[in-house]
Amino acid sequence: MAYWMGIDVGTGGTRALLLNLAGEVVASAAAVHPPIAMPRPLWAEQDARDWWSAAQAAIAAALKQAKIAGSDVEAIGLTGQMHGVVLLGARGEVLGPSLIWCDQRTQPQVEELNRRLGREQVHRHIANPLLTGFSAPKLLWERQHRPEEFRRAGKFLLPKDYLRFCLTGGYASDVSDASGTGLFDVLARRWSAAMLEALELKPDFVPEVFESIAVTGAISAAAASATGLRAGTKVVAGGGDQAAGAVGNGIVAAGLASATLGTSGVLFAATDRPLADPRGRIHTFCHAVPGEWHVMGVTQAAGLSLRWVRDQLGEAERQAEAAGGGDAYDTLCALAAGAPPGSEGLFFLPYLMGERAPHLDPEARGGWIGLTASHTRAHLVRAVLEGVAYSLRDSLEIFRALGIPVREIRLSGGGARGEVWPRIQADVYNTPCVLLASQEGAAYGAALLAMVGSGAYGSLGEACGKCLRPARRLEPGLEAAAAYDAGYALYRDLYPRLQSWFPRLRAKLNSQSASDFA
Ligand code: XUL
Repeated sequence: MAYWMGIDVGTGGTRALLLNLAGEVVASAAAVHPPIAMPRPLWAEQDARDWWSAAQAAIAAALKQAKIAGSDVEAIGLTGQMHGVVLLGARGEVLGPSLIWCDQRTQPQVEELNRRLGREQVHRHIANPLLTGFSAPKLLWERQHRPEEFRRAGKFLLPKDYLRFCLTGGYASDVSDASGTGLFDVLARRWSAAMLEALELKPDFVPEVFESIAVTGAISAAAASATGLRAGTKVVAGGGDQAAGAVGNGIVAAGLASATLGTSGVLFAATDRPLADPRGRIHTFCHAVPGEWHVMGVTQAAGLSLRWVRDQLGEAERQAEAAGGGDAYDTLCALAAGAPPGSEGLFFLPYLMGERAPHLDPEARGGWIGLTASHTRAHLVRAVLEGVAYSLRDSLEIFRALGIPVREIRLSGGGARGEVWPRIQADVYNTPCVLLASQEGAAYGAALLAMVGSGAYGSLGEACGKCLRPARRLEPGLEAAAAYDAGYALYRDLYPRLQSWFPRLRAKLNSQSASDFA
């Protein structure tokens, strides 16, 4: 029998998934990464070598789980967290920690690049505004703050592409992941010479870019002995986690949309031409489907908000999980079901890592508002689930204003688990939501890319048609949707009222930390 593997370098861990030709999951194994290092507020770093260790463990475990040999794997697709920066030295050694997607330290670098190039010119080069999370300002930060490492760096890779380097020894990327660097000409689907020049980066500092289904190399002998894969197995370009996840959700043609709540939260729609929000509030990127594009609105802290609640306020749930009770997230969601829709006037702003869509504000901060003495922990948790859904609704409103049709939304990620969060989403989006039978996210999409890249199917449309099966459809409830429409109007009003307060807080914290160090 033949199998295809998808590997996802996520934030919390790396997952390896094996599919058969019918798209059935025959094995799924994950290995966790050490927690994100946050040496200062809004900084976020990981060690790329931890991703490779986790990948080796996950690949070996998946082969074992499926009871197959490496030689049964036809081809491999890679996906992973976007925007992160891995700097490699001449011998392929990792130079320092990677600033990952949610790191927000680069506002000064974004401003510097905008000043040097002009905002409009930047938009012309990359079809998007430069944002603090994108790789380009991170590279400038590295040059300014870690000059020694930067001087030694010969290559910049994105997280999944570092894994490709470990697996194949080759340097390559794909159009969807490259779109999130701020160095990529999204309209022409190639690196932007102008942006590379502005950052004084030589063309060979970035890897060659391919369409996501293209074969970019093969498993090396060293990687074969480290993982159990067969040397020579094809590795396709793959995609950024959102584009690959969308393929796994069947979002492969214009008119289809998905909402994925992982660590981040993303509302995604495929488009057959590059469509941009004039205010740049949502991203316009290349899709993993050859010749297609997509838009996406990103909430920085979706699952991350729930994880924060679990870690800081869910001691009882964590202890119960450790003692063999249910998963702490599920128990917290069940607790949230005890509070009514709208959480009796309690709102949560999920800006724990600043915010992208729709505010593009790295200084935004999160919080609950509307607390009274009668609110309980159930309300606190429910408000978090609702706040994340409201923040994706912000993106939905932008999609609709751009004329992007969203008749149904496919749910995936942690937000598609259980009953409570999917129901809240269907009601808050006031749009029918569909859950697929397979909920393996980006790794599933990466395996589909490998199937098409190795010729098992002729197109991604065909692969999705053969492999994906809808399992559940949720219609918005009339009453709850009306209540959430009213709640959304109040939610939407909160950020503008706080917007000018966030920089004052930042100034206060900066002067405080300056005096702490004096
Ligand atoms: C997308 C984004 C996240 C990360 C981590 O723009 O930042 O989806 O890729 O999942």
